[in-house]
Amino acid sequence: MNAQNVHFFQTAILTAYPEQNKPFSFWQHVDMQYRTRDFHTVPKNILCSFFLWLTDVNEKRAAMMVRPGSHLVLAALRETDPNWIGDPPRGAPVPYDKLPPISTAEPIPLTAKAGQVSVLTTATIHGASVNVDDQPRKNMVFTFTAAGVKIGLPPGEELQKREYDRELRKRLRPVRMHIIAG
Ligand SMILES: [Fe+2]
Repeated sequence: MNAQNVHFFQTAILTAYPEQNKPFSFWQHVDMQYRTRDFHTVPKNILCSFFLWLTDVNEKRAAMMVRPGSHLVLAALRETDPNWIGDPPRGAPVPYDKLPPISTAEPIPLTAKAGQVSVLTTATIHGASVNVDDQPRKNMVFTFTAAGVKIGLPPGEELQKREYDRELRKRLRPVRMHIIAG
């Protein structure tokens, strides 16, 4: 992110249990809305997501499907579309079928070994697949912004984040307190 300092933004723990009676499929969406300039400014005006895999992820075990580079195609559209002029970087989930028609790479599975971290932007078209393996897939997600970067959230999520940060402040050691903005 070309940042000297970063702030913690959000976290989640996710488990995808085996559903071996279902056929393999996946859904696709974006979580974030950026413009090209948000990727080029210093520091970058984006949220950076760390997916820490707690179990191995093979192609059958709910691997996240991603379309590499699709975030830049969408950001270029958003940079020039008059409907989005002045619209700041923000979290706004959009399913694939509601996105404008674009040409992107085909989806590929993101596989990993337990303990590895995938670093990505969820502005890329992505989505979990059905777990057709016999073991759950578990991961933790941590997101960060460069210090000073503001990312908008839907109202409910904004409130949830403020409450989470308030509780986190009570639990963090003073030496770690600087990871929370404000
Ligand atoms: Fe997502």
